[in-house]
Amino acid sequence: MVSMNHREPFIRAENLRRYFLMGHEVVHALDGVNLTVEKGEFLGVTGPSGSGKSTLLHLLGGLDRATEGHIWVDGRDLSAMDENDLAAYRRKEVGFVFQSFFLIPTMTALQNVEFPMFFARIPPAQRRERALHLLERVGLADRRNHRPTELSGGEQQRVAIARALANDPAMILADEPTGNLDSRTGAEVMSLLQELNAEGRTIIIVSHDPAMIAYTRRRIRLLDGQIVGDE
Ligand SMILES: Nc1ncnc2c1ncn2[C@@H]1O[C@H](COP(=O)(O)OP(=O)(O)OP(=O)(O)O)[C@@H](O)[C@H]1O
Ligand SMILES: [Mg+2]
Repeated sequence: MVSMNHREPFIRAENLRRYFLMGHEVVHALDGVNLTVEKGEFLGVTGPSGSGKSTLLHLLGGLDRATEGHIWVDGRDLSAMDENDLAAYRRKEVGFVFQSFFLIPTMTALQNVEFPMFFARIPPAQRRERALHLLERVGLADRRNHRPTELSGGEQQRVAIARALANDPAMILADEPTGNLDSRTGAEVMSLLQELNAEGRTIIIVSHDPAMIAYTRRRIRLLDGQIVGDE
């Protein structure tokens, strides 16, 4: 067990490696990443296609496991967690936002936001109330009964952000959240993330769009699975 003294950063990745075996070839998606992130940071991850950005985000979010190395979040070692602990970690501590929204097409905006709370066993009335509050928060209370196909791309992403907030996670991990949006709508989504960060939420966003990354307060750059810049 690692010491949990008060100087431990919120996130600490040490010698993180993720290798994929493809036939006889080994792909070094992440190749020795060391990173600390403090609570309340707004971190941008940039780098060319294939540099390991999504892989890093997946490891931080407990969607995938490292081949080597460790990630501590709030003093807990993700690599030491069993599948149940890791699922609980994903559900409670992390809100995910993806480029293609991943809303459930048969559900309304409200039901999509309620969905993660179902797995967290929040009682129905409380679920509804919180989902409505979150839709208000992202400016979409009047769209609550729309299904994803009845929403614009920017609106769908804002529903996805409300859903990411459902279980009040300490951090939001966003992989190219503006990748499918025009620049004006993308800027709106970034401003929303910026506001959530100002409220104290830790946000890590992957993007190769400099205009979007400009909203963050710190940027790391990946190249061939390694961090080559941190500003
Ligand atoms: N499941 C997998 N199996 C095999 N190789 C993988 C897998 N996932 C990623 N890779 C490889 O690892 C490297 C890093 O991939 P990753 O998806 O992290 O890149 P990225 O920086 O997010 O790129 P992009 O900007 O195109 O999304 C790539 O070379 C990719 O082909
Ligand atoms: Mg990617």
